[in-house]
Amino acid sequence: AVVVHRKMKKSGRWVKAMEIVKEFEEKCGTPIGKLRQVADAMTVEMHAGLASEGGSKLKMLITYVDNLPTGNEKGLFYALDLGGTNFRVLRVQLGGKERGIINQQFEEVSIPPSLMTGTSDALFDYIAAELAKFVAEEGPDFQLAPGRQRELGFTFSFPVMQTSIASGTLLRWTKGFSIDETVNDTVGTLAGGRYTNNDVAAAVILGTGSNAAYVERAHAIPKWHGLLPKSGEMVINMEWGNFRSSHLPLTEYDHALDAESLNPGEQIYEKVISGMYLGEIVRRVLCRMSEEAAFFGDTVPPKLKVPFVLRTPVMSAMHQDTSPDLKVVANKLKDILEISNTSLKTRKVIVELCNIVATRGARLSAAGILGILKKMGRDTLKEGERQRTVIAMDGGLYEHYSEYRKCLENTLNEMLGDEVAGTIVVEHSNDGSGIGAALLAASHSQYLEVEE
Ligand code: GLC
Repeated sequence: AVVVHRKMKKSGRWVKAMEIVKEFEEKCGTPIGKLRQVADAMTVEMHAGLASEGGSKLKMLITYVDNLPTGNEKGLFYALDLGGTNFRVLRVQLGGKERGIINQQFEEVSIPPSLMTGTSDALFDYIAAELAKFVAEEGPDFQLAPGRQRELGFTFSFPVMQTSIASGTLLRWTKGFSIDETVNDTVGTLAGGRYTNNDVAAAVILGTGSNAAYVERAHAIPKWHGLLPKSGEMVINMEWGNFRSSHLPLTEYDHALDAESLNPGEQIYEKVISGMYLGEIVRRVLCRMSEEAAFFGDTVPPKLKVPFVLRTPVMSAMHQDTSPDLKVVANKLKDILEISNTSLKTRKVIVELCNIVATRGARLSAAGILGILKKMGRDTLKEGERQRTVIAMDGGLYEHYSEYRKCLENTLNEMLGDEVAGTIVVEHSNDGSGIGAALLAASHSQYLEVEE
């Protein structure tokens, strides 16, 4: 009788755990109709953000990048790519249409931890010093045209901007540098993509964070009162991570994650689609299953309670485990969460959870891309026209989580329909951002006007 009782108890727990999964799955649902609403909401917010400063959750930042590289650029250009704990310095020798990138060199420098919590002055002095060293090592493969100074493109991501760049007073560049560009990583990616492919019209980063940039017609930016650029175009940094809409399928786990985050109420879209959060969402569901349905036995595994222990690369590895006994899942559970002896059935549920979270993220990012295509008028075929549109993609999530990537691409195709989908290409722009910054220094070179 005791055994039977325990068995029943066990199956009761299982039923409860499956209820939690099922409810979560339902709340995460992204049927096409909902995705269309999300896409439409994105387009509406884009209009609002362009209409007035603060007009939308979408900042729709004017980047002052009014012409993208064409491939004709020539000369020596530098870039500084400041991401998170590392930065990169690079130089490229551009040889124009025929020769393209003749030479390139880069160096990755890690930022000493003490500087990451110190003053921004100290941080930027360090970066400037490292950059100066790199420049001093410029070999004979790189040639600066006579009478020119070295020009530098600068790409960075938002966390750095928050600490200092906004004030613009911290950089004391010496040694013959003129700072041409401070561009967002999405803008760098857009420029990098455009250099090799003229059809690139937007860029999306899906990495730790997520964001998009695209080429807008200058006269479609009511909030801009400057002179219209010669090109008639302006790159817009959407900061789409901050998008939110009542159509986003958010669950109690998302609300809790947001409330306990460093930036509650902000970056809501980013918190459901980007790499920083996907694993954490899975962890939160598993935690609930463990607490309320004893999913991992009588006690809640202590590690499971630690926020952000389950990182998205681990989630991705579990999700894409193709071994019949889900060995990868078992090993990750053991190594990362210190949970051993899981049954195959349990592991299958975990894979399913990863699938639910990744699928929702990928489908919602596809909807966001459709929103941009709509804004650009590229979501339908104009009569007699078959304009190709390429979207340059970058970021670790896109690059390494293939289930996510495939789902995103399939969803986009499904929403566009076969005929239009044939004109839209999603392309991985490998390290577009750093090179892109150097290319922007080139396409915005102060010497251009003189020489043209
Ligand atoms: C975050 C930043 C944004 C950046 C993106 C991708 O969303 O706010 O500026 O482009 O991450 O790195």
